[in-house]
Amino acid sequence: METKIWHITKENEIQTYLEAAKLLQAGETVAFPTETVYGIGADATNEQAVAKIYEAKGRPSDNPLIVHIADQSQIHEFVKEIPSNAKKLMREFWPGPLTIILPLQPGRLATNVTAGLDSVGVRMPEHPIALGLLAVAGIPVAAPSANRSGKPSPTSGEHVEEDLSGRIAGIVFGGKTGVGLESTVIDCTLETPAILRPGGVSQEKIEAVIGPVISEAKEVAQQEAPRSPGMKYTHYAPKAPVAIIEGDTAFFQKQIDLAEKRGEIVGVLVSDELEEQLRKSDYMMGLGSKAYPGEIAYRLYDRLRHFDHTPVTLIYAEPFAKIGIGEAVMNRLDKAAGGHYIKQSEES
Ligand code: TXA
Ligand code: MG
Repeated sequence: METKIWHITKENEIQTYLEAAKLLQAGETVAFPTETVYGIGADATNEQAVAKIYEAKGRPSDNPLIVHIADQSQIHEFVKEIPSNAKKLMREFWPGPLTIILPLQPGRLATNVTAGLDSVGVRMPEHPIALGLLAVAGIPVAAPSANRSGKPSPTSGEHVEEDLSGRIAGIVFGGKTGVGLESTVIDCTLETPAILRPGGVSQEKIEAVIGPVISEAKEVAQQEAPRSPGMKYTHYAPKAPVAIIEGDTAFFQKQIDLAEKRGEIVGVLVSDELEEQLRKSDYMMGLGSKAYPGEIAYRLYDRLRHFDHTPVTLIYAEPFAKIGIGEAVMNRLDKAAGGHYIKQSEES
């Protein structure tokens, strides 16, 4: 399949939306930027169109997709009711990086969007291109992150091209995404809402609006059947195995040295602060200052992906404080590492 590429400019913006929307309406897949990561979209009411998303991504079909809308009035087409907590969250955080799980009105969306569940994840993105395209298309658009399943999500059009060129009908290029990590997923079908995936909107911010919530991602990271089906797969992973090094600078340096002695080519993924303290090495990648966790989030996937273009055989990463967006950063890093930690405290 030939993948049509658009680079948005002021002059061609409307024309691009019209062309891309036409493809979506015709049941084709089109990738576009959102404020979190790039998504690969398809008409959420069209079973065959949605099947093309799973196909292009190589994604297991028991993992439901998020439905994207440009206008809140679209929700009533496929949602049974909007609980009061959800209303408050929409008012405060939409458009924005928050996906809200709501009770599904059966029969309106393609069943493969929700993987047969009786709930649906809905999000209104805060990106002018995403909103423009969704508004012109006028249909609910199912859109997971536009990466091959298992890989880090794409934060630039180039990342999407790398993964999906030839596998989807079009890509709308729109620069780098702002947040850099996916939306927070919160289940509002429950008495007490539960965060299923930490993301762009922190638990602290959510609780300031609706009071205490459950953080399922924190509690059941390793559980057998997590309620957000996507949480059980190895995700966000570069080709080389990743380990998170928990310890002081000397311990981190020692792990690098030991691995190099074994013949490994070590990629190092650290804050600017730690980068300054470690001995310089060929594949050391700075994520930014620990003082700005938002910048670390912004760069994480790009850096993880970059390692695939180097000869590294192993990647050692620094853990970050799980505060604010740091919670989401560590959730993704933990998954990239497959839960593999090397801890100083466990050394005898
Ligand atoms: O930021 C984002 O959310 C991006 C951009 C493109 O909007 N999209 C994204 O979609 O990350 P995806 O499909 O990669 O992740 C959706 C997550 C998965 O973990 C999935 O299991 C969960 O949301 N999810 C979707 N619908 C659900 C439902 N009805 N119940 C529980 N979890 C659901
Ligand atoms: Mg994804």
